[in-house]
Amino acid sequence: MESIKNVNVNGKKVLVRVDFNVPIKNNVIQDDTRIVGALKTIKYLVDNKAKVILLSHLGRVESQEDKDKNTLEPVAKHLSTLIDAPVYFVPITRGDMLEGTINNMSDGEILIVENTRYEDYPKKMESSCDEALSKYWAGLADIFVLDAFGSAHRCHASTYGISKFLPSYSGFLVDEEMEMLDKAMHEKKTLILGGSKVDDKLGVIDNLVNTSDAILLGGAMCFTFLKSQNLNVGQSIVSIEKLEYCKNLLDTHGDKIHLPIDIVTQNGVRKINEIEANDIGYDIGPETIKEYEKILDNSKFVLWNGPLGMYEDEKYENGTKELMTYLNNNNITTMLAGGDITSAAKKFGQTFKYISTGGGSTLEYLEGKKFKTLERLNGDKQ
Ligand code: 3PG
Repeated sequence: MESIKNVNVNGKKVLVRVDFNVPIKNNVIQDDTRIVGALKTIKYLVDNKAKVILLSHLGRVESQEDKDKNTLEPVAKHLSTLIDAPVYFVPITRGDMLEGTINNMSDGEILIVENTRYEDYPKKMESSCDEALSKYWAGLADIFVLDAFGSAHRCHASTYGISKFLPSYSGFLVDEEMEMLDKAMHEKKTLILGGSKVDDKLGVIDNLVNTSDAILLGGAMCFTFLKSQNLNVGQSIVSIEKLEYCKNLLDTHGDKIHLPIDIVTQNGVRKINEIEANDIGYDIGPETIKEYEKILDNSKFVLWNGPLGMYEDEKYENGTKELMTYLNNNNITTMLAGGDITSAAKKFGQTFKYISTGGGSTLEYLEGKKFKTLERLNGDKQ
């Protein structure tokens, strides 16, 4: 993988695939972490007098209504408030207007092209990595930069297809995220895992158990582990197909994997062996928080993916909020991996030095998967 940092971009048209798939409500960006994350590459290109053409997807586009609600226009407006350079927006993904706008760009200017997934309706051109579309987009520029770590696990036209036809490089965000995640994977650590889907996390546990001193579980995903120990979990979410897998993991690594000893349900706090038939678990309980804090006390480094409860509701925010506060108050180096845990940190006003902007991509990276998109970023030597 070759980085854009050593490339002469002066006067060049540079196509940058960013991940501006951000939450938007009533045209207002709810969390701009991913946009801010891409600024380093964009500023570098602007300062070095490139013409910067940004491509990103936003949501999924399977109908005309999806197109209407998934325009990148609010993102273009938001970006223009974050950077001291002209930012233009074209409401299409191909055609004369796009080509004309690019031809009229001056060095140091920025253009955001409409949501690449507009090409998914009616035909799945972007997501199927259509060769003609990839070639068309590549034809708009001299250089391709992949800076969308959040989409690096997708082999789509705008992430993978284009790099077949242009000198291609990684951007600063991709470089930094990989360095940070590689370090996090190999370093001795405490791993905190929450979130709802146990299926998404088992590969991460498998890949990281040997480098983890302790693995603290919470979120809805922990109920499959609890159930695998023959505990009654009431109506909490359980993945029946993964019960055996969870049981085996606990049999083999029970010394490292920690489960909640109490949980918060809609009917109040329950000890783990006192959950009733209609209870649903929404957060880890106060005894578990204390227990987990004791374990964290011995940690030099913490990697955290997924909230430990339904933190959006203040009745169920304590597990996530209190452990985050504890980590910061005790200066324990922590890396947050994934969109939900990052949004939780924002909600609680907690800042962390290391944050991975990926969702699915971060999980797959932590599982040890290799991304074809990254492997093809070979600069000029194609
Ligand atoms: C994400 O939010 O995880 C990325 O932007 C990828 O989005 P996708 O799952 O729709 O491809």
